[in-house]
Amino acid sequence: MSPSEIEQPLSRRGWIQRLAIAGGATSLSALSYRRVWGANERLRVASVGTGGKGWSDLNGVAASPVVQVVALCDIDDSEQHLGRAAEKYSSAKRFADWREMLSQPADVDAVIVSTPDFMHAPVALASMQLGKHVFCQKPLTHTVFESRQMRLAAKRQGVITQMGNQIQSHTAYRTAVRAVHDGAIGKVKEVHTWQAGSPRWPRHLLRPEGSDPVPAHVRWDLWQGVAPRRPYKKGLYHPFNWRGWQAYGTGQLGDFGCHLLDPVFQALQLTAPIELVAEAPPLKPETWTDRATVRYRFPGTARTSGESIAVTWYDAVGVRPPHEVTEHLPGSFDLPSAGSLLIGEKGTLVIPHVAMPHLFPSEGDGESPLPVVEGVDHYVQWADACRGLGTTTSSFDYSGPLSEAVLLGTVAIRFPGETLQWDAEAMRISNSTEATRYLSKEYVAGWEPDWVTV
Ligand SMILES: NC(=O)c1ccc[n+]([C@@H]2O[C@H](COP(=O)([O-])OP(=O)(O)OC[C@H]3O[C@@H](n4cnc5c(N)ncnc54)[C@H](O)[C@@H]3O)[C@@H](O)[C@H]2O)c1
Repeated sequence: MSPSEIEQPLSRRGWIQRLAIAGGATSLSALSYRRVWGANERLRVASVGTGGKGWSDLNGVAASPVVQVVALCDIDDSEQHLGRAAEKYSSAKRFADWREMLSQPADVDAVIVSTPDFMHAPVALASMQLGKHVFCQKPLTHTVFESRQMRLAAKRQGVITQMGNQIQSHTAYRTAVRAVHDGAIGKVKEVHTWQAGSPRWPRHLLRPEGSDPVPAHVRWDLWQGVAPRRPYKKGLYHPFNWRGWQAYGTGQLGDFGCHLLDPVFQALQLTAPIELVAEAPPLKPETWTDRATVRYRFPGTARTSGESIAVTWYDAVGVRPPHEVTEHLPGSFDLPSAGSLLIGEKGTLVIPHVAMPHLFPSEGDGESPLPVVEGVDHYVQWADACRGLGTTTSSFDYSGPLSEAVLLGTVAIRFPGETLQWDAEAMRISNSTEATRYLSKEYVAGWEPDWVTV
């Protein structure tokens, strides 16, 4: 898709429309499926992507007593993928192709999307357009444009949504957000967020020549879905290693940004950034970088101290925020391998990734305790909300803009040293036509999603 197309209303031309014309599924409005749930009526859930994280997503949702798992979809029917899910949820229908699964719309109320990043939006948008509630893994999508679409589709269809940044519901992140809201560090002046761990997936390499035979248990055509076709290579993409490839994943920032920046977004009530600039080596043609720093500037909020606030992201093995921003922390305190540091007018808060936060007031010489906020169940919260009980905390209304900001960082990494001005409303990088091009992407013919027109 060209940048000019992003600014235009887009036509409905994808497979949902073709399916509808063929007499199959029709796009439903929220009103046509909203109903009063009977006490014994179960939420009929389908899972797309049953291996890897999908396995824990499925079990997390199925832990709700109101859920019945009715459909399982995976392009790999071996033990670690469809196999064990089919064994555990033996009454569920099995599919290799999510389009076929969704062409039986009356059977399913809600869909879990746990595929690799590049297939989130195609599956989730189609599900929402058929009136289904959606739980979708992080980052919400592969491109910025898709994240905007997810938010718009959820709103238009009135469906219940939740992004799979489940750590948001953990006591650790909830405690950190409450601490900032309670004024524990006063208004926040700057934020540093880092992932210094060593990824297990390949980055910064060239695509090897040749191909390997596709195993009988893998549908490589379906795995590639909306992406440009390329030969199968054992262990290079499926499973898990797709993260390092631009066509499928979003690199280290995409992999962790929606977790690590989530408590920062919530605590400070951030919206769209104003501008951002990356420091990173030139990208290889097809893979993501192995190190980047992205400096975002967001508009100030009621929780921040100036007209704007700097949020800096670091990802490189062993790299944490520099000494000048940590020098007032006690010398005995070691920064965690991943997390955030919020420097406020009255103190500093360290939010480790999935561990309780540490508060260091400016006055005093050490750490102060924080009131603990209990965790909630991120999965059951969604299942309950689908049945009209309560609301979700990472609905696409929240997680769409969070993902947009994270994915904008992946665009900036393509243009090291260039400060990109973000015009969120117009959905363009106002000082770079070239960077705007990377807000969206081309889809393989026949796999184009149906876009929400505005
Ligand atoms: N929230 C978290 O803590 C967390 C942790 C890990 C992964 N994730 C996210 O979960 C998603 C999956 O990651 P993963 O590590 O499990 O990947 P993976 O490749 O290990 O597993 C993906 C699963 O989906 C299946 N699949 C792939 N394409 C499919 C398609 N088109 N239709 C149906 N099934 C398909 C695969 O066969 C596999 O079973 C990613 O978006 C990732 O970012 C989130």
